[in-house]
Amino acid sequence: MRKPSSNGGPAVDFDALARPCLRSVKPFFPGKRLADVQRERKLKRVVRLASNENPLGASPRALAELRGAAPEAHRYPDCSSPLLRRAFAEAHGLDEAQVIIGNGSDEVLRLLCETLLTPEDEVVVSQYAYLRFKQHAGILGAKVIEVPMVDWTHDLETMGRAASTRTKLVFAANPNNPTGTWNTQEEVVRLLKSLPPTALLVLDEAYGHFAAAHAGYPESLPGLVRRFPNLFVLRTFSKAFGLAGLRVGAGVGDPALIGWLDRVRIPFNVSLPAQRAACAALKDAAFLKKSVAACERGRERLAGDLRRLGFSTADSAGNFLFVECPVPGHELARGLLHLGVAVHPLDEYGLPDHVRISVGTDADHRELLRAVEGVLSERRDA
Ligand SMILES: Cc1ncc(COP(=O)(O)O)c(C=O)c1O
Repeated sequence: MRKPSSNGGPAVDFDALARPCLRSVKPFFPGKRLADVQRERKLKRVVRLASNENPLGASPRALAELRGAAPEAHRYPDCSSPLLRRAFAEAHGLDEAQVIIGNGSDEVLRLLCETLLTPEDEVVVSQYAYLRFKQHAGILGAKVIEVPMVDWTHDLETMGRAASTRTKLVFAANPNNPTGTWNTQEEVVRLLKSLPPTALLVLDEAYGHFAAAHAGYPESLPGLVRRFPNLFVLRTFSKAFGLAGLRVGAGVGDPALIGWLDRVRIPFNVSLPAQRAACAALKDAAFLKKSVAACERGRERLAGDLRRLGFSTADSAGNFLFVECPVPGHELARGLLHLGVAVHPLDEYGLPDHVRISVGTDADHRELLRAVEGVLSERRDA
């Protein structure tokens, strides 16, 4: 649409200027600000179970580094996060040339797409895969091939068959958000061996710490990355490390590919406090262990409580539950929000009967369950 000109300058048709492939890209809608909900509804607090954050907060060692970094706020950070790259590489038995650090793993994902994809290329994802895969590929204009899931799980064999010589990236979050399901090392290796030489597998292990104890969960770092140059692994500091607000993630792959990503990366992409806090978080094994144990305990208890209220939950290996509701998911989410509990409706995934609920503290769960009962009884009475 042509906008009226202002102050005599020429009118600019921004819809015509934007790259055509962007027309099919939906803007990210984060939902209403929870602080606004709290103020408008006069709530004491809003229980945050919508974004898979760490209910225990962050490692005290990371927080101390964060405070220690404050006097350096006027300095540029190290350009490519060299200390964090080294610390991450050492922690995982890798060479630092195999590692790139991003402003969240989402930035690394975008870098990968910007480095590799053109509108002539294809990517393969599964039907209910983490939405950002499709979104980043769509921004570059690549064609997205979607493969149905089996039992809410990526069907890696069929995804491998869907990859052609036009395919550059095959995406799999493991465990997957929002379904919480995961794929085994055997399945991953079979896929890596079956891919055409033009295609990489991107294994997004944002929730990997929560799944690592499951027998058969892939040992991607360092094992699979060493064996397979066509594997790229994503990790984040936003989940088990509890640093979502600092925006730090890592990508691990062949050094030649990392070199290309580094050409595209914006210099100083990760802030100085974030680099320092992430280094400290990597060394705080006790906090990580506590986070994973709390998640396992909380997840099983919450699943049991929700089932007793008539919900079905799939087995989840992440820090969240994929929940089928007896009422439309967005109605449940709206009702809960009005009572001070935020959960994630899944209409954007084409799953109107489901919501995703993050694992919280016991107190969070008590408030959630009370609110769920409130919404259900209100519906019964209506
Ligand atoms: C599967 C998956 N990958 C990546 C991310 C993004 O992580 P980050 O905060 O590092 O950008 C998320 C966030 O929820 C996720 O669910």
